Amino acid sequence: MTTRDGTILVGTPEFKADAHARYAELRRQGPLHRVRSADGSTTWLVVDYELGRQALAHPKLSKNPEPFAKGLRASGRHILLAGSGFGGNMLMADPPEHTRLRRLVSRAFTAGAVERLAPRIERLAHELIDAFASAGAADLVVSFTGPLPMAVICELLGVPEQHRDDLQRWTRQGMGNPSAGQRNALLALNSYLQRLLAMKRRVPADDLLSELIRVHDDDQDRLSEAELLGTAVILVAAGHETTVNLLGNAVTALLDHPDQAAYLRAHPERIPNAVEEFLRFDPPVEITPARFATEDLALAGQLIRRGETVTVALTSAGRAADPADGLDVTRSEPRHLAFGHGIHYCLGAPLARFEGAIALRVLLDRLPDLSWADPSAERRWLPAGISRGPVALPVRFTAA
Ligand code: HEM
Repeated sequence: MTTRDGTILVGTPEFKADAHARYAELRRQGPLHRVRSADGSTTWLVVDYELGRQALAHPKLSKNPEPFAKGLRASGRHILLAGSGFGGNMLMADPPEHTRLRRLVSRAFTAGAVERLAPRIERLAHELIDAFASAGAADLVVSFTGPLPMAVICELLGVPEQHRDDLQRWTRQGMGNPSAGQRNALLALNSYLQRLLAMKRRVPADDLLSELIRVHDDDQDRLSEAELLGTAVILVAAGHETTVNLLGNAVTALLDHPDQAAYLRAHPERIPNAVEEFLRFDPPVEITPARFATEDLALAGQLIRRGETVTVALTSAGRAADPADGLDVTRSEPRHLAFGHGIHYCLGAPLARFEGAIALRVLLDRLPDLSWADPSAERRWLPAGISRGPVALPVRFTAA
């Protein structure tokens, strides 16, 4: 867990395989640690819930990497800049730019737009299960938890059916490790979304991209071409793998706790609350993207120097919020930071919650005796990056 010079190592495949025990050990030692990530970068890592909230909303911790880009490139940390070239990316912007972008996008991405998707999400979930229900066995990452979120994002944005496989491929490759393949996939995604935006401009439809083109605020301010593209990219990138892993981690928890799965089958109205508990118990984003200290500051009595980065281990924060940290789908108001906190709080949280609840309800209902194909098989977690989710979910059930 430590290098020869005593630095704590996180994010390695070994760490990820045993993440909860390792975070528990870090929490015992203190709320804040100097760590080295698998990509070689060094950062401050918060493992506590309250300190996590403080850090995520800290006015001197910036999301904009540009002023620090030179130092980052020098230290090989340019990976953190991936995606920033798209412009208009609110996840990597500070106020006032962030405030303006978020306000405009929020006008299009409303609760109503999300709720209108409900019947379509339910139908998609049934169609996916129809395709494998007669087999009696499946890898749910391939057949259910993987494809559903991409199909939903495509519905939301208005991506035609025939282009969805391409979008899924580019997104998967584009979010992978930095390489020529990753860069090409991001460029292909970028240029496809550019063409799609041009088409929506010519022929608007009842979808989020058309609404983003239309939207403007009281000052007649609009999203520029670069901002529209940046927003489309961030919605696909931020909304896809996260939801795949929400479903994957929730299914893992249910397979490991069949009594709680039985409870939810009998009380489907409790599933939305259970989704909060899954987000606390094993959140899809393990650590947040880095924040940069714009000047020297103190966190938990520790001096953080200007230019140093701080990240929050969301996987740890949910467990730190309550000493009784085992899974309990009846827990009232589970506290977690799975969607972040402060001005960057996840814009897609209502969609993720809604989609998660519908997908889990349909899955539990359609496959009443769902279980691990081999309960003793080794579990494998995504090996690198900020995401946390299972590589595969091999299950069996009575064929229908
Ligand atoms: C369970 C699923 C999801 C999880 C766990 C999740 C998690 C997060 C987290 C932790 C942040 C804040 C990052 C930070 O502060 O550094 C964030 C921001 C964001 N998320 Fe999500 N997300 C999910 C689903 C979605 C979906 C479905 C969409 C859109 C379709 C989406 C769009 C965004 C956007 C646009 C931001 C940036 C907000 C801002 O900077 O103001 N997310 N998300």
